[in-house]
Amino acid sequence: MDSIITNHTTAPSGSGTDTSKLNQLLDTLHSYRPTPQQNLYLIAFLFPSILLYLINNRYQKQKQRQKHLSLSSKPTTTSTEKQQVLKDRREPGKWPPSSYVFPTPPPYPDWSLTETKALPYRPFRYGPVYHTTMGLRTVQPENWIELDNQYPKYHSDKAARIAERGDKVIMVAPEAAEAAVELLQELVEYLPERYPSLFRRTEKGGIDNLWSGESFDDISGLTGTGEKAVEEGRKVMEIAARLIQDDLALMVERPDDQYYLLAGAVLLPGFWRLTDKFGMSLAELHTSGDVPQYKEKLHKGMYNLFRRLRPEQMVGRNNYFIQVDDSLAWSWSIGSEDDTETSWSTAEKNRAIDHHYFRSERQTLRRLPKTGAVCFTIRTYFEPIKAIAEEDYVPGRLASAVRSWGDDVAKYKGKERYGEVLLEFLDKKHQEQVERGLDLSREDECRAYPF
Ligand code: HEM
Repeated sequence: MDSIITNHTTAPSGSGTDTSKLNQLLDTLHSYRPTPQQNLYLIAFLFPSILLYLINNRYQKQKQRQKHLSLSSKPTTTSTEKQQVLKDRREPGKWPPSSYVFPTPPPYPDWSLTETKALPYRPFRYGPVYHTTMGLRTVQPENWIELDNQYPKYHSDKAARIAERGDKVIMVAPEAAEAAVELLQELVEYLPERYPSLFRRTEKGGIDNLWSGESFDDISGLTGTGEKAVEEGRKVMEIAARLIQDDLALMVERPDDQYYLLAGAVLLPGFWRLTDKFGMSLAELHTSGDVPQYKEKLHKGMYNLFRRLRPEQMVGRNNYFIQVDDSLAWSWSIGSEDDTETSWSTAEKNRAIDHHYFRSERQTLRRLPKTGAVCFTIRTYFEPIKAIAEEDYVPGRLASAVRSWGDDVAKYKGKERYGEVLLEFLDKKHQEQVERGLDLSREDECRAYPF
């Protein structure tokens, strides 16, 4: 036993290669003549040790190889990141025009002004916890603007708002007029391709609305620069607003590296006024309205998104509110549009369920390539709660979502004004669905967020 320990500790010493170490060890073993009892020890201790030694050796080599591989792949990642950082470091407030051309969209499949229904966005999630996030997803270029059989109502509501409130709902600052012209040009190119039964390009580069008979033909000379910049900017924002169902806002980067709301055609906002928000930075727009957790959860991500957004990217998000009257343009039940202190929490309390409406915005963000302004579209979908509660899973999921709001979100969305009536109704409708055999475990197979 002693001799084995002696031999074992002395033989494989040295710092040669793995093979020479092994050879030394084997030589020692070779010259050694053990007793039968020592043979047993040899089998029991020495061979497992050699085996362990070899296994460990192989493992260390593999580890080294992996380390080498990961090191050699790092420089590529770093250089891509560096390129991105350099791009992001362009001088704040200056945008070198991009040569990017927005792809020509294919026609919307089987689109019809009478038959195509509004998309049923139902962007609420089960509780128990409501998470505040930007909630962004990629939007394909062809889906930039969504139109459907509610177009005539939106078109006439917008026309009425322009007639009634003109300067209060369409505003343009000199800095944003050129971007407004670019926005209209983008729409004039996109809409006739996407909705050929509704729009037609004119020979002079304008656009005809085949349903309303409007012709916006005299737009090719507009630049949004010079003395008439604001006048032209307002004109093009109005035309843009009349063409589509969305409201529009343009965010312009200034040398202080912040984005400002400097042009808007906000005709159907429901609960906020362009006159209050015009000229505000992205942060002020949200903090002035006490958007829940803006500073903690949204500010940094939004800053980075705006700074880095490339013309070839487009993102979207959906939100939702409960409104207790049926007015799309302005929710009169929260107070008059000219009252300063209105919000969802000033709505009339406990109105009957027939007056409850589901209000949901689909918003998109894309950067206009020439001017670099960020275009924000806001399309509001508006339906009676009673109608959407007939859809499978909707009453149960909406009730769960409403219960998941923390105090801040509940206050922002005005839950105290309608919560009791709404939840009682949703619980009843959910119960009915369960009783008629709706399989709750199969919901994920039928629908995915934000539908
Ligand atoms: C990534 C972009 C953005 C995100 C993540 C975001 C997020 C939010 C959130 C969470 C709210 C609360 C209501 C809701 O749930 O939607 C809100 C409200 C609002 N946002 Fe944004 N927003 C974005 C961009 C913009 C832009 C570009 C504008 C410019 C017009 C804007 C204007 C507003 C206004 C006016 C309100 C209502 C504030 C109030 O209650 O007074 N947002 N936003």
